[in-house]
Amino acid sequence: MESRILSVTLLCLTLSGVGALQVNIPKDIYEFARGDNITLPCTFVPSGKPSLVVITWTLEGIKADSKENLILTHYSHSAQTDITPLFEGRVSLDVDVAKGKGDLKISSISLADNKVFECRVQIPGDDEGKRVDTARLVVLVAPSVPICKIQGKAEYGQNINLTCVSEEGSPTPKYSWTSHDVRNVQRAFAPRTTTNGGMLSLFNLTKDTSGYYVCTSTNKIRSASCNLTVSVMPPSMNIGSTAGIIGGVVFCLIILVIIIVCCCRYKKKKEQEQYAMGVREEGYSDKEPARNGEGHKPDGQEDAGEYDNVSPTDRRDRYEDRSERDYDDRRSDYDDRRSDYDDRRRDYDDRRSDYDDRRDRYSDRNDRYDDDRRYDDRRDRRYDDDRYADERDRPPVPASKPPRDDYDD
Ligand SMILES: *[C@@H]1O[C@H](CO)[C@@H](O)[C@H](O)[C@H]1NC(C)=O
Ligand SMILES: *[C@@H]1O[C@H](CO)[C@@H](O)[C@H](O)[C@H]1NC(C)=O
Ligand SMILES: *[C@@H]1O[C@H](CO)[C@@H](O)[C@H](O)[C@H]1NC(C)=O
Ligand SMILES: *[C@@H]1O[C@H](CO)[C@@H](O)[C@H](O)[C@H]1NC(C)=O
Repeated sequence: MESRILSVTLLCLTLSGVGALQVNIPKDIYEFARGDNITLPCTFVPSGKPSLVVITWTLEGIKADSKENLILTHYSHSAQTDITPLFEGRVSLDVDVAKGKGDLKISSISLADNKVFECRVQIPGDDEGKRVDTARLVVLVAPSVPICKIQGKAEYGQNINLTCVSEEGSPTPKYSWTSHDVRNVQRAFAPRTTTNGGMLSLFNLTKDTSGYYVCTSTNKIRSASCNLTVSVMPPSMNIGSTAGIIGGVVFCLIILVIIIVCCCRYKKKKEQEQYAMGVREEGYSDKEPARNGEGHKPDGQEDAGEYDNVSPTDRRDRYEDRSERDYDDRRSDYDDRRSDYDDRRRDYDDRRSDYDDRRDRYSDRNDRYDDDRRYDDRRDRRYDDDRYADERDRPPVPASKPPRDDYDD
């Protein structure tokens, strides 16, 4: 207030022609954005017609006449401006002595230029009045483009926070959000929506929450914005739960496969055990007919003679009946037949002498048939057992299959 009254008084004095130098910087504070090219104005009114004017710009001096704070000096008589090396290339003086103008121009200001600047005018013989004025330069930083993020899951019924932060900005930016629907038309927020600084909180999401959310970061000098797309999904569409379901199905399938494999193994093992038992029980008597069967071909003619007393069709029918019987049925009957078999075995021992004769004939071929082969032919052997039961009174039949081949031929 006081200084204003003083200024008015001085202006009146000047206008009235009562002489005293008046130097003035119109504003106390100048605000510009970092990087801008700026002008700090300085005016002066001499008391008379000066022969020499010296204009000096300094940073507000800690020490008077300190070279450290000197920016430039202008001498009117030679129209020369001396710029200190520190500011060379960055500053210039826009001077017009006749009009009382000596403005300082600074290009591309930085945060380091946040200082008090002083304009001093010296006129020989004019040392009354106000010879110096100062102003503060405030360098502002525009908000950097903010970063928008979503906190939480954008699913029906969930709450989410949208955050918005500019890393730079001086003074500190303020944030505002707008909501746009999927056709990019701006709309009002849902009633429960809240904002706190750069954070927008959305509650109990629905399909209608989806859209674009734009945050604008603003300070005195400029603004910048970011744009977030929110698409609210039903919880089941969530990638995690979908993966979980797929994983579960795959797991169940694997378990199923393991169970099936185990069952098959177990069944197979059981069958093998039973076969093994069967082979052990049948012992020698079982092997003999099998060998006959296998070795039939070369001796086919010879063996055929032994069937003379059975009609070929009879034998063939019997064979086919047996073939059609289910294998498992035969297995279940096996124990019953075994008791019969013990009886038959006694009969068989009688026939054994006959076998011994034939054994001599086939002994040279025995080596050709290994144990595995015998296993594979268990079926045939079993037919042979049956054959013995049916044909107990007849001469032994070498094998079930060969006779059939013969008759088919
Ligand atoms: C500042 O001036 C320089 C030339 O001195 C120019 O290249 C630059 O673009 C100007 N900057 C602004 C923000 O006007
Ligand atoms: C959202 O912000 C509020 C307040 O900071 C917090 O309590 C809440 O847990 C946040 N929600 C999510 C989903 O991050
Ligand atoms: C969320 O919204 C649904 C309808 O859109 C409503 O039925 C439910 O009560 C709301 N839940 C909360 C916690 O507000
Ligand atoms: C937000 O982004 C979307 C897609 O990128 C665009 O269509 C929309 O115009 C943007 N909205 C604003 C306000 O920038």
